[in-house]
Amino acid sequence: MCGIVGAVAERNVTGILLEGLKRLEYRGYDSAGLAIIDDQGQLQRRRAQGKVAEVEKRLDEQPLKGGLGVAHTRWATHGKPSEANAHPHFSSDELALVHNGIIENHEPLRRQLQAAGYAFTSETDTEVVAHLVHQLYQQAGDLTLAVQQALQQLEGAYALAVIHQQHPDRLVCARKGSPLVIGVGIGEHFCASDPLALLQVTDRFVYLEEGDLATLTLNEHHVINAAGAAVERPVSQWEHGNQAAEKGSYRHFMLKEIHEQPAVIAATLEGRLSDRRVLPQALGSAAMELLPKVRQVQIIACGTSFHAGMVARYWIERLAGLPCQVEVASEYRYRDVVVTPDTLFVTISQSGETADTLAALRFARTAGYLGSLAVCNVPGSSLVRESDLSLMTQAGPEIGVASTKAFTTQLTALLLLTLALRRAHHKTEEDALEAELVQALRELPRLSEQTLQLDAAIEQLAEDFAEKHHALFLGRGSQYPIAMEGALKLKEISYIHAEAYPAGELKHGPLALVDKDMPVIAVAPRDDLVDKLKSNLQEVRARGGELYVFADPETLLEPEPGMKVLHLPKVHDILAPILYTLPLQLLSYHVAVLKGTDVDQPRNLAKSVTVE
Ligand code: AGP
Repeated sequence: MCGIVGAVAERNVTGILLEGLKRLEYRGYDSAGLAIIDDQGQLQRRRAQGKVAEVEKRLDEQPLKGGLGVAHTRWATHGKPSEANAHPHFSSDELALVHNGIIENHEPLRRQLQAAGYAFTSETDTEVVAHLVHQLYQQAGDLTLAVQQALQQLEGAYALAVIHQQHPDRLVCARKGSPLVIGVGIGEHFCASDPLALLQVTDRFVYLEEGDLATLTLNEHHVINAAGAAVERPVSQWEHGNQAAEKGSYRHFMLKEIHEQPAVIAATLEGRLSDRRVLPQALGSAAMELLPKVRQVQIIACGTSFHAGMVARYWIERLAGLPCQVEVASEYRYRDVVVTPDTLFVTISQSGETADTLAALRFARTAGYLGSLAVCNVPGSSLVRESDLSLMTQAGPEIGVASTKAFTTQLTALLLLTLALRRAHHKTEEDALEAELVQALRELPRLSEQTLQLDAAIEQLAEDFAEKHHALFLGRGSQYPIAMEGALKLKEISYIHAEAYPAGELKHGPLALVDKDMPVIAVAPRDDLVDKLKSNLQEVRARGGELYVFADPETLLEPEPGMKVLHLPKVHDILAPILYTLPLQLLSYHVAVLKGTDVDQPRNLAKSVTVE
């Protein structure tokens, strides 16, 4: 999705802006650009459709030099991807503005500005904001005030950054509904939609809150809140290191992130387990007070995070004995929801900035839930700040658009939450099942490491898929969401149409699709449902379907004509969804590599979906 970088410094900021844009490429975009107040005090810009490299080429041909600038990667919403629609947008060649989000009332504002004599050169909603700020600046003579007044007229979501030729020492930025951070340097300041964009220049960040507006100069940053009052926002130190944004020796971020899973699962467990139980402080003291009051759980998320929620439902109902509902945020937020008393509202999100999930949380806060808890990977994110409680995953920055390590760490954290709920409701000091699961969790990093050693064998399997157009994923029970996650991974990075079914549903329709051209992938750990799954696999074989099965050796599923089987290490059946995710990630990765797609930035997709 769109990305913003801005800088005010004594040095030339062109390279900083360009590097920032490159670091935002992972978010997905279709055009890019930057604007600088140059050494002669003139506003200049370079924009291009396509990759940031195109902007870089233009800068090589016509370099720019100056200490104040804004830059942007655009993911088209209003108006096609083109140079004219790329940001920054200018007003009267003296003001430049970049914007993430959507301005819902752009049409009436556009008509009003056209009537005032402003000529539009793009189809974007953003250009409306540039002219509006310019118009107000003409009256106010103060850039901060002009932006503040303009924001009062905007409906929708935004993060934006503005510069004006008359103020070569000042960058004004604001957020409502889209993330924005200030980077604090020594005698220089920056802003960006994601701290990763600025790690080359600073590791100190101020996370702006909803409705904040900030004015940045060389030595100072002033923040005012939505009510117009001056506020101090804390400066946080970045703790993930800079190498997270590098691929290292891996060909793609996705492969690096798949292989990081043993370490990040271990990091997510660290300090949260004793020998036989989940430590009470693992979720914080406020959670310990809240969890015994919970009678029901409502989980809300999108995409991969939704699949994590679906697995959690099986766990919460089985282990904690509490009813649990799971729904995608984009549906939940527009439903007439009936809230049962004492329901805990749980959101799951890697980024903590997904627009639908955030909107659902904001609704839930007014709807009579017992409290809200975010399972999230980004500490300063909107979701974490706006929830009563948070349970952080420790995946580190995830760059590949296809979510991998975020998912398995979400599952790990959700199992901790489930065990904490179990303890809160079944108050026995000694719980043999909890002790067994704690032991199994401790072994999970090692088992994940072993499972990843199937990489070469899975790379071979992938060859069977490269020419296929469809695939079917099957699982039962808590493995059904894993089948869904496998299908999502395959479609998003290899563009092969893939569907997931609970295997028992096969004979109710999808079996009609099965023939030699429809590979069927099944996840078969040893659990209560494996014998039923085996019967479903027979139904596929009898129709000439090619089967690919990831199985526990004790299921006695062995390779035979028409059925390839890869064995995973033995794992506790409760934890099997976490382990069985790994081969499906590797399979989709290798198929995508064989097909030559853009693995880390698949077409049409964005890493963090900050618009509705
Ligand atoms: C999955 O690979 C995608 N990246 C996508 O489905 C993602 O999980 C979804 O957009 C939710 O994002 P979030 O976890 O950051 O809220």
